[in-house]
Amino acid sequence: MGKPYKYETVLVDIDDGIAWVTLNRPEKRNAMSPQLNHEMCDVVARMETDPDVRVLVLTGAGESWCAGMDLELFFRDLDDKPAERAVAIWETNEWRWNRLYTYPKPTIAMVNGYCFGGGFTQLIACDFAIASETATFGLSEVNWGIIPAGIVSKALIDCLSYRDGLYLALTGKSFSAKKAEEIRLINKAVPAADLRREVETLARDLIKLNPEALRGTKQAFKNVRGMGDVQAADYLAAKYSELKFRDKDDGYSKGIGQFIDDKTYKPAFGAYKPGK
Ligand code: COA
Repeated sequence: MGKPYKYETVLVDIDDGIAWVTLNRPEKRNAMSPQLNHEMCDVVARMETDPDVRVLVLTGAGESWCAGMDLELFFRDLDDKPAERAVAIWETNEWRWNRLYTYPKPTIAMVNGYCFGGGFTQLIACDFAIASETATFGLSEVNWGIIPAGIVSKALIDCLSYRDGLYLALTGKSFSAKKAEEIRLINKAVPAADLRREVETLARDLIKLNPEALRGTKQAFKNVRGMGDVQAADYLAAKYSELKFRDKDDGYSKGIGQFIDDKTYKPAFGAYKPGK
């Protein structure tokens, strides 16, 4: 067993394949301090190869999911400390965009409350986002005189329509989870009491699928976004071959065999049986 996931600003609970990762600064509405970003770099780096983790769920302690970057500890305190600021910027992008966006395992944002500013980066980086109907969202940067920087504007334009993204970034208006669902910033808004159950059901469905196929699918889908057609087709062909090489369960042969020969399942309606 590796060293325990013990941190000051992050809680980790791994239960039957699901890693429940909770940003844990509720008194500051889970605003991201340099320490929190540093600890999250460790969490996601270690979980990447942790066999006990099949799906990563990201949530927040208390009534907030994440109130964005910590305006005091990440911004004002580092204004005159360029070296520390550079490290802090590097780490905040590292765990959220460099790692989570193309993470080899499925990721779910379980949005339990406020999601503001920089919080949009990990919201969009996660593969799925399910929010409580009580959650409130907002790109508040313009309200206090900055732009949605870090990687927020890039994440926004990747995820939302031009009109919706620009409207939200330019007005700084907060909006409801229902609105977030309508513009497809999130998959679904559910009653607060159902949030954890909804997320767990999705996570359990994902755990039934071949992990290498999931890894290849999500990386292929996300990485082809910035490519031209020719590069994308070549990259997808290489990714297809990579999957066969990586998949020790040989899902490709088993899936076809169980459908064509054994007639024990239909690919249209569910997963093949692994390990047989
Ligand atoms: N950075 C630093 N501290 C923050 C913070 C942030 N992004 N968001 C909240 N806090 C702190 C508050 O300063 C307060 O600290 P205090 O108890 O020492 O005074 C504490 O968290 C609770 O915040 P409060 O505003 O009293 O809670 P609330 O529940 O009434 O409101 C928010 C919650 C999230 C709506 C409000 O705190 C807010 O607008 N935060 C800023 C959100 C934002 O613009 N983020 C973008 C940053 S990129």
